[in-house]
Amino acid sequence: MKKLIITGGNGQLGRAINELYKNREDVVCINTDVDELDITDLAAVQAFVAKEKPYAIVNCAAHTAVDACEDQEELAYKINAIGPRNLAIAAKQNDAKLMHISTDYVFAGNADKPYREFDITGPQGVYGASKLAGENFVREFADKYFIIRTAWLYGDGKNFVKTMLRLAETRDEVSVVNDQVGSPTSTKELAKAMDVLLFTDNYGTFHGTCEGVCSWADFAEEIFRLAGKDVKVNRITSEEFAAKAKRPAYSVLDNYMLKLTTDFMFADWKVAIAEYMEWLLVQED
Ligand SMILES: NC(=O)c1ccc[n+]([C@@H]2O[C@H](COP(=O)([O-])OP(=O)(O)OC[C@H]3O[C@@H](n4cnc5c(N)ncnc54)[C@H](OP(=O)(O)O)[C@@H]3O)[C@@H](O)[C@H]2O)c1
Repeated sequence: MKKLIITGGNGQLGRAINELYKNREDVVCINTDVDELDITDLAAVQAFVAKEKPYAIVNCAAHTAVDACEDQEELAYKINAIGPRNLAIAAKQNDAKLMHISTDYVFAGNADKPYREFDITGPQGVYGASKLAGENFVREFADKYFIIRTAWLYGDGKNFVKTMLRLAETRDEVSVVNDQVGSPTSTKELAKAMDVLLFTDNYGTFHGTCEGVCSWADFAEEIFRLAGKDVKVNRITSEEFAAKAKRPAYSVLDNYMLKLTTDFMFADWKVAIAEYMEWLLVQED
């Protein structure tokens, strides 16, 4: 029986991981969120990991509110950098693996081809910079680690898809940014990729996003199409939208390390969003 400590387990990805393993007899998940295990508290992390002696720690905890991070720099660094550092220290002390999740926002977003794991980083805001610091701590303090950079995540929790569906209840047109492109990724697909790596010694830094590319405006249109909502998408620029944090314009990731070292292929983003929308419908029944 392999024991996993899931941190941030009530978040979107944490829920997907718990769902993936709920019927697996060879894996048991110790689910924690901030109330059970605050990853910013080194002593608490060390005591918890020493007590549980897990096979692996899967870090799904993060401060993911990108705009709020601009005003909450200290909190962002505590959760996104010190947190994974603490987990890395405890993982090493207990000979456990650490799987840590990072983001496309570690890149500057000015490339003209998909970013590979070997490309130079250049975060544009506090969120991306704090996540990059977290990655570096994991590399520095853990021995057996997987860092998986993902992007545009949606699952069981607050996300862009649900925001669009909420807006569709009261509006017949919405303005959505068209000059940022990336790959919307379902937590279900990401959890499958995590499972492919977690029980191996195939360590390192990986990109993990659904295949295919679109803008936020394209994504919104596909969501409305699948939901049968007649909502017009007005395509606007990032400047017009004026979010607090600067975001990468081109944040497409190439899952190059997964392709080099495994047979795993992510679903295309259109396939994954269709599956998610069907799942949402079942939840509403
Ligand atoms: N969402 C995206 O679009 C996206 C894109 C790229 C990468 N990622 C990365 O993917 C991972 C999973 O993201 P997600 O969307 O599943 O995030 P999420 O839904 O925001 O979940 C994060 C969880 O971490 C918890 N948390 C916050 N501070 C904590 C602490 N000090 N100790 C323990 N838990 C704490 C949160 O609790 P509270 O809710 O109570 O704060 C929440 O339950 C993160 O590493 C994120 O950076 C996400």
